Amino acid sequence: MTFSQTPSSLLTLSEADKSPLSIRAKALVFVDPHSRRLREQAEALAPGGQPLLIVGETGTGKELLARYIHRQSERGGLFVAVSCAAISPKWGEAELFGHAAGAHVGSVSSRAGWFGSANGGTLYLDEIADLPRPLQARLLTALETREVYRVGASQAMPVDVRLLAASSIDLARAVVAGTFDERLYAYLRDGQLLFPALRQRVGDILPLAEYFLGVHAQRLGLNISPIGEEAQALLEAYAWPGNTRELENVIHFALLLAGHSAIGPEHLLFRGASRPVQARVAL
Ligand SMILES: Nc1ncnc2c1ncn2[C@@H]1O[C@H](COP(=O)(O)OP(=O)(O)O)[C@@H](O)[C@H]1O
Ligand SMILES: [Mg+2]
Repeated sequence: MTFSQTPSSLLTLSEADKSPLSIRAKALVFVDPHSRRLREQAEALAPGGQPLLIVGETGTGKELLARYIHRQSERGGLFVAVSCAAISPKWGEAELFGHAAGAHVGSVSSRAGWFGSANGGTLYLDEIADLPRPLQARLLTALETREVYRVGASQAMPVDVRLLAASSIDLARAVVAGTFDERLYAYLRDGQLLFPALRQRVGDILPLAEYFLGVHAQRLGLNISPIGEEAQALLEAYAWPGNTRELENVIHFALLLAGHSAIGPEHLLFRGASRPVQARVAL
């Protein structure tokens, strides 16, 4: 086996990039007071090069926020998004830090690794708790010393990387459970941004729905169907376990199902339950 035969996470796109229904949103729809506060915090913290940890349920918009922070930071380099769950324990070191030419039989050319690719820019590590344990300590060392050793290289390479990490689980608990490096957690915890779940940002639901309607209608060459009052009430009352990603999918299907009519309750395919979990409306 050679590194060149094991691209695994080197080619792994993050979750958002893989979803066929997901559009790469340019605009951040933040209307609810909770998300406006989050955006203010993100804007205030963006310019510094300090690491940040974005904590929130899956599908809330962590990666979108991280891209926004990168753009606001005016760092010139790339935004490199890596899904830690896809980093293999065996090849992860080379994937993350790169390898020198000839480091292993068959590794003809050197490879920069995620860290090297993000040099001058931002490294986004999604679900950082899934990073194989030995790499957690190595990551911290690289961040603290601002240099990396490529696999098989004898000399350290200076790197200027801003880390944005995301987690959908409580890292403090992972530390107690012994699955997350205590020192890496201490390094990250001062710059925490909490991304509330969509059900905690009810003010965002309809503006996001309108936004996704517009984007998908344009993409599909369809007219925008208005969202009827009953459907609006259901959208606001639903608990959104899959957060904004689920809302985007529900709206995408509603647009297809509604045809030329307004979107009604019958066009809303909620995941699992067909009724909202905490209905605030009489059905
Ligand atoms: N505030 C928002 N405005 C517009 N689109 C959003 C917003 N939040 C999330 N999205 C979209 O929802 C989907 C899920 O967001 P993502 O950042 O991948 O979530 P996470 O990383 O938390 O799982 C993406 O398609 C993203 O573009
Ligand atoms: Mg994600």
